[in-house]
Amino acid sequence: MYVLAIETSCDETGIALVKAEGNLNAFIKNPKTKIIFNLIQSQIPIHRPFGGVVPNLAKREHILNLPILFSEAEKIMAKKKIPLKKIDLIAVTVGPGLEPALWAGINFAKEVHKKIKKENKDCKMIGVNHLEGHLFSLLFGNRRIQFPSIALIVSGGHTMLLSLKEKMTFWRKIGETRDDAAGECFDKVARLLGLPYPGGPEIEARAKIGNKEFVDFPRPMIGQKNYDFSFSGLKTAILYFLRDLQTTEKMTDAKINDIAASFQEAAFDVLSKKTLKAAQEFKAKSILVAGGVANNKALSDSIKKAVKKFPLPPAKIFLPPRGLSGDNAAMIALAGYVNFLKKKKRVFKANSTMTI
Ligand code: KG4
Ligand code: ZN
Repeated sequence: MYVLAIETSCDETGIALVKAEGNLNAFIKNPKTKIIFNLIQSQIPIHRPFGGVVPNLAKREHILNLPILFSEAEKIMAKKKIPLKKIDLIAVTVGPGLEPALWAGINFAKEVHKKIKKENKDCKMIGVNHLEGHLFSLLFGNRRIQFPSIALIVSGGHTMLLSLKEKMTFWRKIGETRDDAAGECFDKVARLLGLPYPGGPEIEARAKIGNKEFVDFPRPMIGQKNYDFSFSGLKTAILYFLRDLQTTEKMTDAKINDIAASFQEAAFDVLSKKTLKAAQEFKAKSILVAGGVANNKALSDSIKKAVKKFPLPPAKIFLPPRGLSGDNAAMIALAGYVNFLKKKKRVFKANSTMTI
C-alpha cells in the first residue's frame, strides 16, 4: 500500500509517502516499509523570536507550507513514476497537538483526498494519533522488536511509559508526567539560560562541553513506587539557582555549559532510572525510546549505562532511525497503515488533548 501522510500538530509541516506491505500479523512481526519521501518544513525561525510555538502563527504557516510541500511531493512522485491514483490511503494527524495547527492539516488532507478519489475511488482516509506515530516510528528500518517491551515516549508535549506485553499494537500506559513534559522542560530551562528555542538541541550541545557535576539538581519522583514523572520542580530549582548565582557572580558561557550539563544529567537520570525500573518489573526484552528528546544521544547513553547493571539477559534498546525521532509525517503514515489494518476509525476532528 502507498500511504500519503500529513502532519501539522505543532511547528513542523510534514508530508510523506510510505510504502508498507503485509497484513496486520505479518506487518507487526516483520514490518516491511519504505519511505519514498519524507518532506518537512520547520517553522522554528518563525517561532524563535517568541521563545516558543505561537498556535495561530503555526496554523498560518501550515496553510502556507502545505501546498508548497504537496507540489514538491507531486514532482517527486512524477519522477519516480508513481501516479497520484496509486495512493491507497491518506493518513492525517488529528491529535494531540495545537488545535488550529491540527485543523490546517485535516482540512488539507480532505482536499487531497477529494482530488485523489477522482482517479482512485478506493483511496481511503484515516485519522492518526500523533503519539502512536512516535511509537510506530520504531518500526522503520524493518527491525524485529522483542517482547515484552517498555516504551518511553519523550517529546515537547508528552512524557510517558508504556508496557507492551506481546506485540507492538497492544500497550498499557503505566506512567506519565504530572506536569511539564521532558522536552518542554528542556525548552523552559534553555530560556532561563538565555538560549534560543527549541532548547533541547541547544542544551545537548552545551552539556557536551559542560561539567555535569557542577550542581546536584533535584531528581523529582526518582525513588517513588510509580512510573510517573514531574519536571516542573526541576525547572523551578534551576530558576532559583540562577537567581541566587546572579546576585553574587557574573554569568559566563562556561557556567551556562555547566548548568546545562547538570540539568541534563538530572533529567536523564530520572528518565533512565524509571524506564529501567519498569523494564525490570515487566521483564522487558527491549526498551523503545521515541519522540524529539530521543534525538539526544546522552539519553540513550544514560539508558544503556543503566541497562548494563540490569540482571542478564540485558534488554535491547531501540531508537527511531536517524531523522525520525522528532515530528515527521513518515511516522504518521506507518501509524495510519497499522490503524487501517486494525480497522480503527477516528473522526476527522482536531482533538488537542487525546492520549494513547
Ligand atoms: O517530538 P517532537 O518533535 O514534538 C512534539 O511532539 O512535541 O519533540 C520536540 C521536543 C522539543 O521540546 C525539543 O526541545 C525536544 O523535543 N528536543 C530535544 C532534542 N531535540 C529536540 N530535547 C533534548 N535534546 C535534544 N537533542
Ligand atoms: Zn511529536
